[in-house]
Amino acid sequence: MSKRAAVALVATAMAVALTACGSGGSGGGSKDAAGGGSGALTVGFSQVGAESGWRTANTKSVQDAAKKAGVTLKFSDAQQKQENQIKAIRSFIQQKVDVIAFSPVVESGWDTVLKEAKDAKIPVVLTDRAVDSKDESLYATFLGSDFVEEGKKAGDWLVKEYQGKAEPVNIVELQGTTGSAPANDRKAGFGDVIKGDAKFKVVASQTGDFTRAKGKEVMQAFLKSQPKIDVLYAHNDDMALGAIQAIEEAGKKPGKDIKIISVDGVKDAFTAMADGKINVVVECNPLLGDQLMELVKKVKAGQPVERRIKTVEGVFTQDQAAAALPSRQY
Ligand code: AHR
Repeated sequence: MSKRAAVALVATAMAVALTACGSGGSGGGSKDAAGGGSGALTVGFSQVGAESGWRTANTKSVQDAAKKAGVTLKFSDAQQKQENQIKAIRSFIQQKVDVIAFSPVVESGWDTVLKEAKDAKIPVVLTDRAVDSKDESLYATFLGSDFVEEGKKAGDWLVKEYQGKAEPVNIVELQGTTGSAPANDRKAGFGDVIKGDAKFKVVASQTGDFTRAKGKEVMQAFLKSQPKIDVLYAHNDDMALGAIQAIEEAGKKPGKDIKIISVDGVKDAFTAMADGKINVVVECNPLLGDQLMELVKKVKAGQPVERRIKTVEGVFTQDQAAAALPSRQY
């Protein structure tokens, strides 16, 4: 088989696989099968993966919103790999979807494929995570949280917590996926706030890839290598929850012997917070589906949209956890 024929075959197979994951959920993802009838929008959505409780809630929100809005969603799970996202986007281009939406696993390396979408006149909406492309014409808008701000909120809580105390505070940091916007920005925002006070020292910082298993594994290593840990700053709840297991197995009390700052606000983290095991959670809202559907419709219709749409989020401490738990939606 010639190389060109082999490439065409792989592309067709991918297109079929992606179509089979359409929002209809029944394996029928063609435009008309989604209930929108002819004229309904088809959106190709490339999701990061299923690495965390946050991500599961985000996927459900997007799929539910697509159904509600009569949008045919061609859903593709990249399993935390950029190469899979690039393949999915190319397949969406081949299938001539109306709009491409995606949550980029890492920040860099998107210009070529985004240019391909632009050349094919398919608008792109970034959701949840940003890209570092200098050419802003490569995407229509970006909907998601301000991750730098989240890192700052985490730092602000710490500064307040240790106000008036002079002893050194040893911090270990569980970073999100290396090169991802939330890992880069949450680290930067937190660092910016604590650098003003020399008593705060990040003694170890490593990626836990936003997963519970990796969070536990890296925390176990921190506990072995660091003689004194006062605070854990985890870039997401899943890593914090994995770390809690490691701390307990090491005979220490999470939330007391080691204070824990986390980001996201999933139900399991609120439960851990109500139990005194997490001290503070900086909220990051995954329920972006409805806003995303509104945006793709506007973008397709050529209506003006804001370049950057930020989600509104709060900060929750232990005293609020039990009361807030029943109303948590994810
Ligand atoms: O991009 C959002 C981040 O990705 C969430 O904080 C994390 O839980 C997820 O995996």
